[in-house]
Amino acid sequence: MLRLRIIQTTLSAFAILLILFFILFSIHFKSPLLPPTYTTITLQNTSSPQQQFSLLIGILTRPDNYDRRHFLRLIYGIQSSSIAKIDVKFVFCNLTKPEQRVFIALEIMRFNDIIILNCLENMNSGKTYTYFSTLPLILSRQYDYVMKADDDVFIRLEPLALSLQPLPRFDLYYGFVIPCPSMNPFVHYMSGMGFVLSWDLVEWIGSSEIPMNHTFGPEDKLVGQWLNAGNKAKNRFSNKPAMYDYPGTNGRCSHQLIPDTVAVHRLKRWEQWIHVLNFFNVTKYI
Ligand SMILES: *[C@@H]1O[C@H](CO)[C@@H](O)[C@H](O)[C@H]1NC(C)=O
Ligand SMILES: *[C@@H]1O[C@H](CO)[C@@H](O)[C@H](O)[C@H]1NC(C)=O
Ligand SMILES: *[C@@H]1O[C@H](CO)[C@@H](O)[C@H](O)[C@H]1NC(C)=O
Ligand SMILES: *[C@@H]1O[C@H](CO)[C@@H](O)[C@H](O)[C@H]1NC(C)=O
Repeated sequence: MLRLRIIQTTLSAFAILLILFFILFSIHFKSPLLPPTYTTITLQNTSSPQQQFSLLIGILTRPDNYDRRHFLRLIYGIQSSSIAKIDVKFVFCNLTKPEQRVFIALEIMRFNDIIILNCLENMNSGKTYTYFSTLPLILSRQYDYVMKADDDVFIRLEPLALSLQPLPRFDLYYGFVIPCPSMNPFVHYMSGMGFVLSWDLVEWIGSSEIPMNHTFGPEDKLVGQWLNAGNKAKNRFSNKPAMYDYPGTNGRCSHQLIPDTVAVHRLKRWEQWIHVLNFFNVTKYI
């Protein structure tokens, strides 16, 4: 009995130590230039010869959105692309609550798909700038493309990859152009639902003073303004009608679901997700 107790105590003490150790090194180890999880973002070389390019999708979300992340891990975990190596990560600012340090540490241990930026949680005060400008500092290798996506969008990875395949790998700005009726990718900017930048533009955002001096405002509109001001993104591609807002949620940015879809945005309610997943036969053959 006594020995069992001692073993149990030792084991739980060891477990607590392990967790403390992990948290100390992964969460509390912070310096302004090296955000907290920089050590965990090591990419494996799993590229196959068929994979012609790589894409990082960063889903900007909040630490407390545990259920949403759980759901999106299913949504993206069941998809893949034959032609692109695609990594999906969740992106948020500094943790602010004691329980987040425990629960998110568990997520990092289990999934290793979280990037914690050095910022305070916000939508239009620089999070997107911090996201792009931090990536070149923390990634162990570069991607061909980086996407910023919302957490209320359903992205179909293979159609997305197929649509990127023929496009330039350089100086590219891709997405769903705003205003809604615009069919000109230069008028004016790509919606925050999900837009893609080629790696050179990500590096430019991290090094140019133009974005650095203009970080406050609607995040998607700002990106377009930076690129215009810097005379960047000569290659632009607006993927209409394959990207859109869910029917009936946003005027002329919305239309009915169509088979050739890359992304559907503004999925706020479960009925909408269920409708979309059924339409694309995601779970049909189980
Ligand atoms: C990654 O794997 C590919 C395909 O096997 C290979 O061609 C490439 O050299 C590898 N890259 C690195 C950095 O090991
Ligand atoms: C984020 O957390 C780190 C470490 O606690 C701190 O040094 C940094 O100032 C925080 N950043 C912001 C924007 O609050
Ligand atoms: C950015 O701001 C700094 C400091 O105010 C200024 O010196 C610099 O000229 C600005 N750069 C651009 C490109 O606006
Ligand atoms: C879903 O499956 C049905 C029945 O097989 C088919 O008619 C339909 O085209 C499929 N939908 C899509 C979006 O692939």
